[in-house]
This record gives sequence, C-alpha cells and structure tokens, in this order.
Amino acid sequence: AVLAATAAQAQNFPDKPITIVVPFAAGGPTDRVARDLAEAMRKPLGANATIVVDNAAGAGGSIGANKVAHSAPDGYTLMVHHIGMATMPTLVRNIPFKVESDFEYLGMINDVPMTLIGKPALPATSYKDLTGWIAQNKGKINLGNAGVGSASHLCGLLFQTAIKTDMTPVPYKGTGPAMTDLIGGQIDLMCDQTTNTTSQIEGKKVKAFAVTTNKRLTTPALKDLPTLQEAGLKNFEVTIWHGLYAPKGTPAPVLHKLNEALKAALKDPEFIKKQEGLGAVVVADKRVEPAEHKKFVAAEIAKWSPIIKAAGVYAD
Ligand code: MLT
Repeated sequence: AVLAATAAQAQNFPDKPITIVVPFAAGGPTDRVARDLAEAMRKPLGANATIVVDNAAGAGGSIGANKVAHSAPDGYTLMVHHIGMATMPTLVRNIPFKVESDFEYLGMINDVPMTLIGKPALPATSYKDLTGWIAQNKGKINLGNAGVGSASHLCGLLFQTAIKTDMTPVPYKGTGPAMTDLIGGQIDLMCDQTTNTTSQIEGKKVKAFAVTTNKRLTTPALKDLPTLQEAGLKNFEVTIWHGLYAPKGTPAPVLHKLNEALKAALKDPEFIKKQEGLGAVVVADKRVEPAEHKKFVAAEIAKWSPIIKAAGVYAD
C-alpha cells in the first residue's frame, strides 16, 4: 500500500509549489544559479509546475543547509548549494547536520570561476600594483565575504595564506550585499564568483585583478585577467561547483523525476547561454548522476579539509 501511495505521489508530483532554498542572500552568485535553474526546470516538471526561491541566509550557508536537512522529505523543498557542502564540515564547528547523510544528492549543476576584485578607488589596476598596495597597507585591509564556510571566505583564506598577509574579514549574508559595499568603497577587496562579478567588471563598477582558475577565461570581459598562478601564486586554483539537494528520505520516484528535470534544464540552450555569459560552465552529463554527485562531494571534503587546516583556520 505504501509503495502504491508513493508511486501515486510521484505520479502527480509536483502538485504544489516547489521551494528551492538558497543559503545566501538574494542577488548573489548562488541565488543567480538557483533562479536561472528554477526557470529552466519549470518546463520539464510540467506546465503547472511552480518553483519559488527562498533565501535562507546566514552562518556561511549553514543555516539554509540546516533548514533543508530538517525539512519534510517530500520533494517540495530542495536546495542549491556550492563548494560549501565540502568545506563546512571542516570550517563550521558543531555543524547541526551531516553533509553526507542528511541529504539526497540530485546531481551537479555547474562550475564557476572566481575573480579577485577591488573597490573602485583602490589605486591599482594590475595584480602587480595590487601586491604593492597590499604591502603598503598591511593590517589595514578588509576583505568582504559571505561568512565562514562560504566560497568567498574559502578563496579569501587561501589568498591571504598564499601572499602571507592577514586581512580583516567582513562577513555578509551573501556576496550580493557584499558587492554593494565593495562598489561603495566600504570594503577593499573580495574574491567572488564570475556569476556575480562579470557584469560589475563589464560595467567598470569594480577593479578586477585576476581569476582563480588554472587557465584564463574566454568571457570577453574577463579574458584579459591573468590567473593567480600566472601572477606567481603557484598551484592556486579555486573553482566553485554547485549541486541540487533534497532532504534525506525523499521518495525515490520523486528524486528520479527531479533528476530528470535537472538533466533537461542543463540541456536547455537558454540556460547554457546564460551560464556561459557569466563565465560558468554546465557540468558534463556524468556529474548530473546522483551517485557521481555524492562521490564528488565526498572527494572534495577529503581534498579541502587538509588544505583548510594547513591554512590555519579551524571551525568558526
Ligand atoms: C559565497 O561566497 O559563498 C557565495 O558567493 C555567497 C553568495 O552566493 O552570496
């Protein structure tokens, strides 16, 4: 009877609005990915499917993740999250959920490069000038991020360690609001994803110094930025990946339907074009398989834990 009920439930799924939780403030890179994905998933889920985005921000993304881990496992609460799923276990003390057992893995979405950017009035145009300015302003520089456990925090941490210069972190509920303060000159620097920085760099609202990927980017507004490796920070590479999650225990037929809709969304030319315009790359088919997604996150937890510990930062 239960099986029949579950099958029927999946048959009619979705028959009410689906919520995608974004664990950061509106207007930032995670929010951008989630809203574009929601748009692309509506069609494959059926004409009457509605998907709303709920920005449950705070504590570097762990508040939103905790909310989803404890939501009803019925397929109507999902989450878009990023590399933070692999770094929170090391960075956030007493994390109130288990990344590897409190979620269903619905598949990965994209890879997003990061950019090192500065306030408009910062008296440097090249990365080389920036290092001179940093040397002259040791102890007075502040760095915006989205809280301990966020992608901007991870990149900022690795950058400070690589240049052996501590900076004052200024945490926000997301790099959307952080970007507003960077443009306004309230903070000096930030490492943020191209999904959030491309338009500001194009609009010359911020200074852009480098990208965090192994190779330069092809996006017109970003193609002239050197990689941090070219600039002398050997092995510096940070790429932010995003995945789709549901609470553990969501029925398998519902998970299957959601994974099918995710796969269709990632094939949507409109979605792909939007992602490419922002420097992001949609993942290959293999990584949209839930088993691969789960394996990838476990490998990333193992990869980042020693790097974070070597950088001398433990749980917040
Ligand atoms: C991050 O730094 O983790 C993200 O940029 C936060 C956000 O999406 O606002």
